[in-house]
Amino acid sequence: KRIAVFASGTGTNFEAIADAVEAGQLNAEITLVVVDKPGAPVIEKAQKRGIDVFAFNPKDYPSKPDYEREIIARCQAHGVEWIALAGYMRLLSPVMLEAYDQRIVNIHPSLLPAFKGKDAIGQAIEYGVKVMGVTIHYVDASMDGGRIIAQRAFAVQPQWNKEEIEAQVHAIEHVLYPETLKTLVEE
Ligand code: GRF
Repeated sequence: KRIAVFASGTGTNFEAIADAVEAGQLNAEITLVVVDKPGAPVIEKAQKRGIDVFAFNPKDYPSKPDYEREIIARCQAHGVEWIALAGYMRLLSPVMLEAYDQRIVNIHPSLLPAFKGKDAIGQAIEYGVKVMGVTIHYVDASMDGGRIIAQRAFAVQPQWNKEEIEAQVHAIEHVLYPETLKTLVEE
């Protein structure tokens, strides 16, 4: 199956998925990386692997449906069947959701439905939760609201600082995302 990864930032989840593909653990191909922030580090990471990148600035388009139509055309040209959002910091409009109905998933660094939106880890720490985790879910028009596909939890050790908690979250993400994509795209 051909996958597009959408990202806005660092791209460590993109790299985890690309590593799983290269290792033969995920029977898929990342044919396109879509980035809404020109200059984001994920662009260079994709280019180093020889993967095509569509980087755009939303401000260059009159509206979200306009740039989403451009994204859809690029995805179709790359044979994309599944879309994995990996730190893509935008809601999708019905244009995108209808083009890839039930074929768009997202990863979020909390046990949804708790702590939707930005800085989920900071929100959870602020709340003092003792069990944290990661969720992979289908994407709908709401923020982090679609049906849950997979979750993994961990116990927060009392001595951990924010950096250690973040490291634990990301370590889980980098295993759970490739594993979950495998169950979805290889079915
Ligand atoms: C991850 O924590 C993901 O759960 C969230 O954004 C972050 C992206 O990190 N949606 P990276 O760009 O994959 O390193």
